[in-house]
Amino acid sequence: MNHRTPVRRTLPAALALLVLVTCTGCSGGVEGRPGAAGVGDPYFPRLGNGGYDVTHYDLALDVDPAAHRLRGTATLTARATQDLSAFHLDLLGLTVESATVDGRPAAVSRAGQKLTLRPDAGVRLSEGHTFRTVLRYSGSPRPLTDPDGSQEGWLWTADGAVALGEPAGSMTWFPGNDHPSDKASYDIAVTVPKGLTAVSNGEPAPPAAASAGRTTYRWHVGEPMATYLATVAVGHFETKDTKRSKEAGGIEVFTAADRAVAADSAPVLARVPEVVAWEARRFGPYPFASTGAIVGRPEDAGYALETQNRPFFPGPPGPRLLVHEMAHQWFGDSVTPASWRDTWLNEGFATYAEWLWAADKEGVPVGDSFDAAFRKDANWAFPPADPPTAADILQPPVYGRGAMVVHEIRKAVGDDTRFFALLKGWTRAHRHGNASTADFTAYVEKATGRDLSQLWKTWLYGRSRPAPQG
Ligand code: TRP
Ligand code: ZN
Repeated sequence: MNHRTPVRRTLPAALALLVLVTCTGCSGGVEGRPGAAGVGDPYFPRLGNGGYDVTHYDLALDVDPAAHRLRGTATLTARATQDLSAFHLDLLGLTVESATVDGRPAAVSRAGQKLTLRPDAGVRLSEGHTFRTVLRYSGSPRPLTDPDGSQEGWLWTADGAVALGEPAGSMTWFPGNDHPSDKASYDIAVTVPKGLTAVSNGEPAPPAAASAGRTTYRWHVGEPMATYLATVAVGHFETKDTKRSKEAGGIEVFTAADRAVAADSAPVLARVPEVVAWEARRFGPYPFASTGAIVGRPEDAGYALETQNRPFFPGPPGPRLLVHEMAHQWFGDSVTPASWRDTWLNEGFATYAEWLWAADKEGVPVGDSFDAAFRKDANWAFPPADPPTAADILQPPVYGRGAMVVHEIRKAVGDDTRFFALLKGWTRAHRHGNASTADFTAYVEKATGRDLSQLWKTWLYGRSRPAPQG
């Protein structure tokens, strides 16, 4: 995906800038200007980078949990979206050992979470050119504390690690364009000491090669994936791989559970295909080639995350949490927020999936779930489509009131067949892409042929609780 920030300047100022940057870059005859450091996200302006679009990440990681060491080689294939004299990658911590761009050594400088790469003289990154960056790095990855106080990124566990990246944690374990607007395919190879297993996104590529007491696990993600959904889990796992699950519609189902919780996880993991099929009937075809789940121990992380293909759970989830994280495969993982302002498009729908499940399986009418959420004061702290700060992007209004928005649309549509057709149309329209709140409201108005500005005003943007309806 592209994300150019529109720049408006007077012509003389633009010319002056052009002369300036051309000359900084022209030492080695490199033309163009540096890509922007940051894509202008309203909540995390420094995340991601301009001037290129990553199409593929090839990550080869060597993980030593006992020493808390990671060694990695990241090969990024990217297309320049402008003439680039230099560009940035997001990487926090770790030591960069070497970098090449199109096979020639590149100069690397660092400031905070930004790497600046200057390609060698003779390497031209012209607009439209696809180029390859290889970065070797190592060190002891450390987690990141979010604005809301939660821990994300590379989390060491008792005997391994798990990587969780929402919103900004992927930069703690691999260099990249760390913003949801730039999705790419991945190959992830993880080498671990014998006895440990490394699980990641996508499909496993057999066989796992073993040498000198270490085993390499290879994973391939063919569909576009946002950096925040990339994961690696290293541990003593019990795994189950069903290559073609009839119940899940023919896709591969790969589950992994830490041996400490494997027995307790078995019953809920056995329901993964059922949940995928149940959701596919409501949300449209499952968007990926494989599914599954990773279950760690409760102390491994403070929350579950919808990591692509197989969500991560800190301990065996109940069916509702499984339904929530699996719904994100459609809402979040396939249809990905354009920016961190749009998290209600993830959480509102994942919460609504829980309400649908409770109605279908637990005899709790959706209206009751709606009423309970309506009564909860925490859901009225701010409008779901406009969280006040970066610390609020995953707070109750985004979940509870986000789901109320979906139910209000259902009531406005009136007919359930048409409502579910609307949901399926949404996941189809932006499958494997990105979408914003404006894309959503425009889509619903076009699909229904109605002006729903009052609904958006009250439920999406309103600051106060409306009077309860009959
Ligand atoms: N997005 C996750 C979910 O709803 C939850 C999550 C990830 C989260 N990171 C967080 C919640 C940080 C609170 C704080 O499935
Ligand atoms: Zn969620």
